[in-house]
Amino acid sequence: MIKIEAIVREEALEDVKAALIAEDVRGITVSQVMGCGTQMGYTQLVRGSKVSTTMLPKIKFEIVVSTSQWAERAINAIRKAAYSGNPGDGKIFCYEIQRAIRIRTGEEDVEAITPALSS
Ligand SMILES: Nc1ncnc2c1ncn2[C@@H]1O[C@H](COP(=O)(O)OP(=O)(O)OP(=O)(O)O)[C@@H](O)[C@H]1O
Ligand SMILES: [Mg+2]
Repeated sequence: MIKIEAIVREEALEDVKAALIAEDVRGITVSQVMGCGTQMGYTQLVRGSKVSTTMLPKIKFEIVVSTSQWAERAINAIRKAAYSGNPGDGKIFCYEIQRAIRIRTGEEDVEAITPALSS
């Protein structure tokens, strides 16, 4: 099992969500977060003085999938939907997941993240 964490622009929320659903990814967590990448936010001129904004609002998607094939599908969908070509488009991180449990049925691991038998 693989966890994909994608931090994208706020305005990419709906497109990324739709792209994941279109790829049959089921089970998505979304949070509003603040962050900075290599540019450390940005600097703008406010009434003649430079003001730096270190942390910018971003959207974080977290999804857990069963195989590396599913992970590639999800990653490609996110990349396409979140891409503008400008700095700040975001990043995708992947992790190995050790364990998953569906609370309602007690199913574990891959069974816990695929549709339940009795849904
Ligand atoms: N190394 C990192 N660790 C944790 N979070 C990160 C890291 N890099 C980026 N992020 C998160 O992703 C968001 C978007 O990063 P961003 O796209 O600006 O990355 P970047 O490396 O600066 O690339 P770019 O040059 O395209 O802007 C950040 O606001 C932050 O929340
Ligand atoms: Mg950046």
